[in-house]
Amino acid sequence: MIKPKGYVDAQYLQTTAALLQEFKQRSYEWMHIQPGHVVLDDGCGPASDTVALARLVGSSGQVSGVDYDPEMIVEAEYRAMRAGFNNWVNHQQGSTDELPYPSNQFDSCRSERVFQHLKNPERALEEMVRVTKPGGRIVVWDADWGTLTIDTDESETERKLVRIMTKITVNNGYSGRRLYRMFKKQSLTGLVFEANTMFFDRYELLRTIVGFDYVESEALAMGEVTQQELDRWHESLAESDHEGCFFGSVNGILIAGEKPEK
Ligand SMILES: C[S@@+](CC[C@H](N)C(=O)[O-])C[C@H]1O[C@@H](n2cnc3c(N)ncnc32)[C@H](O)[C@@H]1O
Repeated sequence: MIKPKGYVDAQYLQTTAALLQEFKQRSYEWMHIQPGHVVLDDGCGPASDTVALARLVGSSGQVSGVDYDPEMIVEAEYRAMRAGFNNWVNHQQGSTDELPYPSNQFDSCRSERVFQHLKNPERALEEMVRVTKPGGRIVVWDADWGTLTIDTDESETERKLVRIMTKITVNNGYSGRRLYRMFKKQSLTGLVFEANTMFFDRYELLRTIVGFDYVESEALAMGEVTQQELDRWHESLAESDHEGCFFGSVNGILIAGEKPEK
């Protein structure tokens, strides 16, 4: 498969999942899962959450995961098998734009860190609503990369790089802040939401997660920053790192709502 904009591999997802455990758990709670439920993880990656969901629905339930990357599906199937859940967990290749399921099938659906990659997130939410049963729950978590902040004296450069990053590394960099409006427009009821902050005190980890090598070289090529500005930026971050003071944060939004009974 040609790797799309914002592509991340299974290893990246494993590293970042560790930072997101608390929000993942709350997303499961907000699905209101009962034993025997039939649930979907839309953009499931390498079974980042389907195995955990399988424990919650139990062997009388069903968990489906969908992802358009065939490598993720192979890894997800392997992990489900290794966990011993392959009888009630299945993963299949498919697009958020056209979920390969009939309407009104799932008790709840979730999607995490997927909408930021989408050119048409409204369509993805519409599809999640379609496949959810009336009265069922829809839960989405996504980052808002516009809220990325890093403690540095080079704050002009930091702001420029963050703005560029939101445009060039993903298709929908401000995804988090847009979810509330999208849920309202789908007439989902009983909305609950919260902002979650991820903190980073490891410079190299944040550089990798954000893809700063790419962002900086693009920003330079676009003439948005000068080499001198980048040199000062690197110096400032290296100094914080050396002193054990590096600090950055980014917000995500978790939101849940119910499909109306009609
Ligand atoms: C950042 S990963 C998140 C994976 C998983 N939800 C997690 O939290 O670990 C984004 C996932 O969305 C998938 N994806 C992106 N665009 C998609 C689309 N249009 N349809 C289906 N899957 C998509 C990618 O292949 C990738 O596995």
